[in-house]
Amino acid sequence: MSIEPIAELTDISTSPPPTNPSVERDTLYEKFREKIVVNPMLDRTLVSYQGNQNTPFYHWFKYKEGFSEGLVHYLLKPFEPGTLLDPFSGAGAALFAASALGWQTKGIELLSVGIYATQARLAASRVNTQIFKQTVANLLPLNFAEYYDQAYSLKHIAITKGAFPEEEEQQLVGYITYCKQMVNDTDTQTLLLFAAFCILEDISYTRKDGQYLRWDMRSGRSLGNIPFNKGPILTFQEAITRKLKQIIADFEGICVQQSLFEDVTPPRTLLTNPEMYQGSCLDILPHIERSSIDVVLTSPPYANRYDYTRTYALELVYLGCNEEQVKHLRQEMLSCTVENKSKRDRLESYYKFLGREIEFDLINTTFQQQRALQEVLSILDTYLAQKQLNNPGIASLVRNYFYEMCFVIYELARILKLGGTVIMVNDNVQYAGEEVPVDLILSDFAQSFGLTIKHIWTLNRGKGNSSQQMGNHGRTELRKCIYIWEKENQ
Ligand SMILES: C[S@@+](CC[C@H](N)C(=O)[O-])C[C@H]1O[C@@H](n2cnc3c(N)ncnc32)[C@H](O)[C@@H]1O
Repeated sequence: MSIEPIAELTDISTSPPPTNPSVERDTLYEKFREKIVVNPMLDRTLVSYQGNQNTPFYHWFKYKEGFSEGLVHYLLKPFEPGTLLDPFSGAGAALFAASALGWQTKGIELLSVGIYATQARLAASRVNTQIFKQTVANLLPLNFAEYYDQAYSLKHIAITKGAFPEEEEQQLVGYITYCKQMVNDTDTQTLLLFAAFCILEDISYTRKDGQYLRWDMRSGRSLGNIPFNKGPILTFQEAITRKLKQIIADFEGICVQQSLFEDVTPPRTLLTNPEMYQGSCLDILPHIERSSIDVVLTSPPYANRYDYTRTYALELVYLGCNEEQVKHLRQEMLSCTVENKSKRDRLESYYKFLGREIEFDLINTTFQQQRALQEVLSILDTYLAQKQLNNPGIASLVRNYFYEMCFVIYELARILKLGGTVIMVNDNVQYAGEEVPVDLILSDFAQSFGLTIKHIWTLNRGKGNSSQQMGNHGRTELRKCIYIWEKENQ
C-alpha cells in the first residue's frame, strides 16, 4: 500500500544548502532530503488537539497532546480498514476515529489518565441517553457538599496540595460520593465521574502550561517572580453544569444527525471496540505477534522535557495515584524529561529474559552506529562538561529518548505486515542551539530495521523559526513532522 498526500506537495529539496553545517547531520539531511516535503493539507489546527474543539466526545477532555479526529481521517484515507495499533494511544483519538471507520484497533498507554478517558469514551458509546439525561436533571440542583464522605476524599500529593479552593473540593468530593453511592447504572456513573475529571483544571488554581502546572497567585502557594492570574476560576457547580450540558448537547446533536441521515454510520457507534493494554510499550510491544499489524498510527512523547506526570497531576490524583506511583510512572514514561534515568540495563535484562539477546544487540548497535545522533550526543556531552547546558540532565534526556525509541521502532518494524505502514507524528527539538533532527534520526533507525522511508511530511511552517532560519528552509528548521514508513513487499 502506498500512501500519497491528497494535495500537491511542494518540494523543498531545491532549498539553498544549509549554513553552519555539522558534518553528520548534514550527511543525514542529504540522505533524506528528497523525502522532506511540505504537505499543505497539514496545518497546526489539524495536527493538534485544537482541531477537536467542536468535535463531539473529543472535546470533553482537553488532552492537549491528542490527535484531532480530522487528522486521523485524513491519514487513514488511503487505506482499507485492517488492524491498527497506537503504542502511545493517549486518550485514544486514533483508536476511536479508526474504530468508527471499521478498523480493528489496539492501543497501549502507560498513564491511567489516557486509559480512563478511553474507558469513558466507550461508556459514552453505550450509555442510555435517557437515563443519563434524567440522572443529570436529578443531580444538578443538589448541594453536593451535603453528600461529602471522607472515604472519597482526594489523597493529594505534594505537587497538588492546595490546588482547589476548599469549598470547591468539598463539592467535588460530595459529587463523587453521590455518583458512587446513588447512581446505579454503570455507564451513567462512569460518564458522570468522567465529567468531573474533565473539569479539574477549570476549578483549580492551576493551569497546564508547557512542562509543568502553573499556579495562580490566589492559591497562596510559593510563586515565581512574576505573579500569575489564570483568569476566572469556575465554581464546581458552574463547571460541572457546563460540562454535563455539553455532553448532553453532543448526544442530542448526534441523535438528530442519525435520524436525518439514517444510512450514515452513527458516530456514536463504534464498529469495533479498541483492545487496550495499560503499561509501557517498551514492555508490551515485544509480545505483539510478528507481522500482525497493517498500520501503526502514533505520536510518541516529544524529546522536549514535557512532563506528563506533572501536567496531569490533578487527574492522576483524582484517579487515586499516590506519590510513589506518580514517581514510578515518571520513570516508566518514554524518557523525555531531565529526570529520566537510563532504561538500558532493564531493557537488556528484559530481552535476555525473552530469549532475544541477538535482537537486543542489533538494536543496541543500531543506536551506537547512528552517526548524526552520536554527533549530537558528543556535542551535548562537551557542553555538559563545560557547564553550558541550562540543565545538566539534557544530554541524558536526548540519549535516553533515542535509545528507547530505537527499541520502539525495531518492534514496530517487526510487528508490521508486509505492505504495512507506520505513520508517526513528532517534533524536532533544539538544545543549547544544537538542532536535534529527530525526524531524520528516527527515520534512519526505521530504515536500518527494514522500513522504507516514503515521506517526511512537514507542516507549512515549523515552530520556533526565526525569519532568518525560515529563509533557509532546510536543516536548521525545527520541523514538525509526520513520517510515513512502509514495510515494502520485496
Ligand atoms: C503525544 S501523546 C499521544 C496522544 C495520542 N495520540 C492521543 O490522541 O491522545 C504521547 C502519549 O504517550 C504516553 N506514553 C509515554 N510513555 C509511554 C510508554 N512508555 N508506553 C506507553 N505510553 C507512553 C503518554 O502518556 C502520552 O499519552
